[in-house]
Amino acid sequence: MIRDPLPIPRRDRHLGLVNRSSSAPALGHGSSPSRWLETYRERIARARVYDVAVVSALEEAPKLSARLGARLLLKREDQQSVYSFKLRGAYNKMANLPQAVRARGVICASAGNHAQGVALAARRLGVPAWIAMPRTTPGIKVESVKLLGGHVVLHGDSFDEAAVHAEALAASRKLTMIPPYDDPEVIAGQGTIGKEILEQIGAERLDAVFVPVGGGGLIAGVGAWIKALRPEVKIVAVEPDDADCLAQALEAGRRVKLAQVGLFADGVAVRQVGAEPFRIARQVVDACLRVSVDEICAAIRDVFYENRSLPEPAGALAVAGVKRWVARHGAGSYVAIVSGANLNFDRLRHIAERAELGDGRETLLAVTIPERPGSFKRFLKELGRRSITEFNYRYSSPAAAHVFAGVHFHDAADRDAALGRLRADGYPVLDLSGDEMAKLHVRYMVGGRCPGLADERLFRFEFPERPGACLDFLNAVGSRWNISLFHYRNHGAAYGRVLCGLQVPRAERGECRRALEALGYPYWEESDNPAYALFLGTGQESEAP
Ligand SMILES: Cc1ncc(COP(=O)(O)O)c(C=O)c1O
Repeated sequence: MIRDPLPIPRRDRHLGLVNRSSSAPALGHGSSPSRWLETYRERIARARVYDVAVVSALEEAPKLSARLGARLLLKREDQQSVYSFKLRGAYNKMANLPQAVRARGVICASAGNHAQGVALAARRLGVPAWIAMPRTTPGIKVESVKLLGGHVVLHGDSFDEAAVHAEALAASRKLTMIPPYDDPEVIAGQGTIGKEILEQIGAERLDAVFVPVGGGGLIAGVGAWIKALRPEVKIVAVEPDDADCLAQALEAGRRVKLAQVGLFADGVAVRQVGAEPFRIARQVVDACLRVSVDEICAAIRDVFYENRSLPEPAGALAVAGVKRWVARHGAGSYVAIVSGANLNFDRLRHIAERAELGDGRETLLAVTIPERPGSFKRFLKELGRRSITEFNYRYSSPAAAHVFAGVHFHDAADRDAALGRLRADGYPVLDLSGDEMAKLHVRYMVGGRCPGLADERLFRFEFPERPGACLDFLNAVGSRWNISLFHYRNHGAAYGRVLCGLQVPRAERGECRRALEALGYPYWEESDNPAYALFLGTGQESEAP
């Protein structure tokens, strides 16, 4: 469930009571928040990151800004050599270690961006680095760390097992642990992003900075700097709604451990916010936003349209947050930190599938229409020339047909008006856009065998994909013979592909073929396809043509 932005009350109490697990002492425990935040400001000012990091661009996002009616700037941390900001904190931590300690070597447990940050920072400082990863880590991640000179230690089947092993190795070999977020020097390194943002924006208006949150190191550093220099700028935390450890901790007033975390935005899939990041977040975070996986997918697509870069899910979180914020709070001048672009290529399929649902442009509908020739056509007429993204149907009863349809509406008002008209005309309509089971499974399962259905013939068609193409196709075939099966999904290919069952009495088969030829689309008859007989047929497939 997606909840509203959470305003965070400032709390100055309990400063000494936070349960800490950081390997380095927290700054200024016991002193006033303004004092220890000032200590962070000083650390960030002296943080050493530019031996490995670049000052990433703060870029206007004109397309998104125009769409949102707000000014949006993107802080492009995907421009770092390891495609994420994580090298800043890792390098600052190592650069601040005494020479003798550093020389013994460093270790971390990570299969993600932190691993690459540590490996690169260690190489630049000439420090040996061990990276513990679970044995299940994809080869591509193992290779990229090895290429950066890291010694990969594969251990255990889960991240937790690898982390325990890393702790043991650190103790036995006297290596220094480089924590991913719960450490003042790591936080200070990430804080250099906040410093850059204020330097780059200069005297211009800035209302809020949107920051993705995992363990909280990034938001702690960025927030500490910005609140010290421009306290009026809001710091907005953005988390996936199934990995919201900071929002839950701020609501509870203490760190909580999530029983489970969603893994889609793997860069921020953290069960418990770090102790030191939490202590800082309580002082600097103004609001928390939770966004859905579909909203993250839409934000990845938005950034791609903006500048042709492809952020990873965690990297697009902040943009998803800005969209949500603007929908509620309206125009302003905003910065979103695009924190990384180490995208798993396999994820693209899911991202493309969900992006249009994510900002409500695509709506998935279950519509019941009368089961008779021409009723598809009438139903589609009701939808007008809107583009159909998906249309799945299988005959199930002589009275009514249940259609699973995906439709592109211009906006929420257009959608509500069209659904209202359909309902007024007597079509029962169910909006399935928020139904995970329907989105994950049912859309692919509409079909099945239909024993005893008379005269079904199966055809496969291709037609050039353009707006209205599916509707034209249905119009052309659907009025003369009853459509008993229909399967269409716009996959972004140049050609639309449709599988269509028509009830054609034997005496009319010749006429049907001539009608299909006249359509002018390439088509293949599939009535004898064994896959049809096994999974979709009517039990009469062996019949001679
Ligand atoms: C791409 C990306 N974004 C955001 C974060 C969150 O940073 P933090 O754990 O400091 O909150 C991470 C953490 O690894 C990340 O890799």
